[in-house]
Amino acid sequence: MAESKADLKKLFIKTYGCQMNVYDSERMAEALGGSGYTEVSSPEEADMILLNTCHIREKAAEKVYSELGRYKDLKVANPDLKIGVAGCVAQAEGEEIIRRQPMVDLVVGPQSYHRLPELEAKAGGGEKALDTDFPEEDKFEHLKARPKAKRAPAAFLTVQEGCDKFCAFCVVPYTRGAEVSRPVSRIMSEARDLVERGVREITLLGQNVNAYHGDGPDAQGGGTWGLAQLIEELATVDGLERIRFTTSHPNDMDEALIDAHGTCSKLMPYLHLPVQSGSDRILKAMNRKHTAEEYIRLIERIRAARPDIALSGDFITGFPGETDQDFEDTMALVREVKYASAFSFKYSPRPGTPAAEKGDKMVDADVATERLHRLQALITEQQRAFQDAMVGREVSVLFERKGRMEGQMVGKSEYLHAVHVTAPVAVGEIKRVRIVESGPNSLAGEVID
Ligand code: 5AD
Ligand code: SF4
Repeated sequence: MAESKADLKKLFIKTYGCQMNVYDSERMAEALGGSGYTEVSSPEEADMILLNTCHIREKAAEKVYSELGRYKDLKVANPDLKIGVAGCVAQAEGEEIIRRQPMVDLVVGPQSYHRLPELEAKAGGGEKALDTDFPEEDKFEHLKARPKAKRAPAAFLTVQEGCDKFCAFCVVPYTRGAEVSRPVSRIMSEARDLVERGVREITLLGQNVNAYHGDGPDAQGGGTWGLAQLIEELATVDGLERIRFTTSHPNDMDEALIDAHGTCSKLMPYLHLPVQSGSDRILKAMNRKHTAEEYIRLIERIRAARPDIALSGDFITGFPGETDQDFEDTMALVREVKYASAFSFKYSPRPGTPAAEKGDKMVDADVATERLHRLQALITEQQRAFQDAMVGREVSVLFERKGRMEGQMVGKSEYLHAVHVTAPVAVGEIKRVRIVESGPNSLAGEVID
């Protein structure tokens, strides 16, 4: 007899950080589906709470400990409640988490999610379950297949994990490990499966996605495929209408990938290409291995291939040793590039990273904050200008959900703007839309027949 929904144990996952964690959380929920769990949306009703954590910025571990503290009452009320910590904080802290917060039953690093069913069984038996290995096997190939349920029209698909770049400020190479690319055939079958389930847009994910170098299918001659070749292959899938990828390193934007932006109509005109700083001195100290000028030239080549492309980036202010002039160089680069959007952060030393260990002179915290605010003001201005320039233009919108107003539908344009219309369109439809108004966070449009 099939299990009824009431028999299922309830799983609450709280996801922090990047899109790769969002994808991992989905896959963890599927893996635990095999152990009799169904996902719920509040911790109060859960039999298991899983925090999928992020370690990239300041006080990540402290935030996790304080979140765990909030679950104390739930654990007292229900001693059978299992609490797990996954993601990069689990990787970085390991056993320390159980030492500091003994009510945690399970700690699992990002490379071991396929072992979750065993870990859950162990925790269920009253033992502490810990796995922060970097196993030989590929977790994705061992994770339970995705169930065949219908899905939202836009999905993530992780194609690459880890990073070999070792930017001086970044923990990713330590928490996520070395770069590993999934084989093309596996990605293709996962993509086809997603499309069968209603997906029309796939965002390919990787910590350093444009360094993708996966095994090509034997039937197509094997070899190593780059990201551009993978995108071209994905573009042959009927029903898959839009492809995106994130996040990229400038030094891995090869000719083929730049060309793909001009030739592959399914590849959306949006590119997140972090540069972090506009000062050559700071770029060198960050171990970015390119200059500001090289980045600008690269942007010119990308814009030559796809003139309307929306560009996005990441910036850090207050990296150790950053002078006023270095920061002005960053502002100048931003003015030159003209971003459609960008993310900026104040430098925070991450334990174990070269920048934190070198003990270089930290920039005064108030100075770093002031620079961050100035940079953010400039970026907001550019974002506004890019969005406002959409008024009067035609865009294509993939509709994802109902809007707040009666009869309203909301979707994303090719440039990743949220667009709403009042028209009888269905979730999953792609329509040409004329933009009529630019609001604070979204665009208003009219469907063109
Ligand atoms: N301090 C501040 N920002 C950081 N990032 C990564 N590590 C740090 C750090 N130690 C930012 C970078 C990266 C983004 C994902 O997070 O800009 O591109
Ligand atoms: Fe971190 Fe990105 Fe640099 Fe890799 S390329 S070390 S993920 S900032």
